[in-house]
Amino acid sequence: MVPSEPILRPVFSAEQIATVVKRIAAELTADYAGRHLHLLVVLKGALFFAADLARHLELPVTIDFIRISSYYGTESTGGINLASEHEASLRDKDVLIVEDILDTGLSLQYLMTSLAAQQPSSLKSCVLITKVVNRAIAIEPDYQGLFWRGGFLVGYGLDCDEQLRNLPGIYEMEQQHHGRSSL
Ligand code: IMP
Ligand code: MG
Repeated sequence: MVPSEPILRPVFSAEQIATVVKRIAAELTADYAGRHLHLLVVLKGALFFAADLARHLELPVTIDFIRISSYYGTESTGGINLASEHEASLRDKDVLIVEDILDTGLSLQYLMTSLAAQQPSSLKSCVLITKVVNRAIAIEPDYQGLFWRGGFLVGYGLDCDEQLRNLPGIYEMEQQHHGRSSL
């Protein structure tokens, strides 16, 4: 449950996020030059990140969505479910997974393994926020933006009980609640 007046500490401003998103887009534009990039956006958290990233890519781009759930409350549980599938086949495509946060690594590991089975011509990952303390699996995103070693984050797509996604910046939420991120 989101407290009626949650205590939010500003962590990354909208301007900082925009700078990092443009930098990642420039890297992708250079690395995928001459190719077509298929963005596979992990809903719902990566919604705004993907929308901003895509608009800075100077490449032919297609966009599809996937939904998984693995994160309950403010601590990861470790169980991953595929909640909804992407529409388009990944076969022979240059696929980039677009994720909001890398925490334990379980979600990204699950996605990399299950999507690789669909025989894309390449499969890489792009994560806006890398949490540096909780990793259970040694996995590094191919592209990453911001690094964080604190607590639970909300805003710019990240939720607590489906709320607060619409904040333009990213905030750390005080941990006295038992909220639930819905990915
Ligand atoms: P992992 O499987 O532990 O790496 O979990 C990553 C997923 O948990 C991310 O895709 C997020 O959707 C969610 N998550 C992790 N940390 C936070 C947070 O601080 N706020 C909101 N969602 C989070
Ligand atoms: Mg996510």
